[in-house]
Amino acid sequence: MKAIILAGGNGSRLYPLSKVSSKQLQAVYDKPMIYYPLTVMIAAGIHEFCIITTPHDLPRYRALLGDGTQWGIEIHYRIQERPEGIAQAFVIAEDFVADENVALMLGDNIFFGGNAFPQAVSTFKSGALIFAYHVKHPNQYGVVEFGADGQAISIEEKPSVPRSNFAVPGVYIYDRQVVDIAKSLKPSARGEFEITDVNRHYLEQGELQVSRLNRGFVWLDAGTSSTLQEASSYVETIERRQGIKLGCPEEAALVRGFLSVERFRALLDTIPHCEYRDYLAYVASEAERQQR
Ligand code: TTP
Repeated sequence: MKAIILAGGNGSRLYPLSKVSSKQLQAVYDKPMIYYPLTVMIAAGIHEFCIITTPHDLPRYRALLGDGTQWGIEIHYRIQERPEGIAQAFVIAEDFVADENVALMLGDNIFFGGNAFPQAVSTFKSGALIFAYHVKHPNQYGVVEFGADGQAISIEEKPSVPRSNFAVPGVYIYDRQVVDIAKSLKPSARGEFEITDVNRHYLEQGELQVSRLNRGFVWLDAGTSSTLQEASSYVETIERRQGIKLGCPEEAALVRGFLSVERFRALLDTIPHCEYRDYLAYVASEAERQQR
């Protein structure tokens, strides 16, 4: 499976932070926001990525992440000229998707815990697989309603009167049909190609699976200045308490076997002395200890 990470958009809710810098390059505690979705997808076993961003921000993503070889992965880039909706990602990245299954992840969504995503990536066969997460205020999101048998029966984008408290987080997994479905969409009333319309299409075909994320699983959306601060505080709290980092792509690549310990050590030499490098050195020595 390949993955697209969507890192364009307006970022208007993050103004003025987003006036000169892309939302997904902002710091979430001690690293750029995009490190978190990238790490989640690497940890799920994906090593081919396409990052979609604005013409203005593309050079910065390239400067930050390069072509991925330093982490044993591949990173391709595509441009979205205007933020015309999440579903447009599949039209923009059609040649990248080719004939494969593909995960789409929103660059400002932050997840921790559990093995729902690694399991989903390794077992997914066809159709669509999305997730549902209980939130207090679901009306900012796609909202999924479940029938008595636990099957999804409706999905609505930002409803004013939500039919449930289950919001759809920004990780979606699709088969190759998604490109044609995305191409067939009409813009919504707010002028966007909606991912909820893609999901509804699969639902109507009887090919949508919705997996509920358990209690204890963490989903944060860092799209406003207050939620960005909450996400930073959360990461800081866990990192200080546990002495391990969240959202560290180098570590995920090592654990997944995309990087050998030797290459990981060589990578360390390219990083300036800082807390992040100290942590990677700790990860390397732990990995060497386990090899002995
Ligand atoms: P949103 O947070 O819904 O939109 P936004 O980033 O434009 O922010 P705001 O509402 O504050 O103006 O987008 C969710 C994610 O999807 C985010 O990571 C940006 C990305 N995105 C794109 O890359 N292209 C798009 O056309 C849209 C709508 C979103």
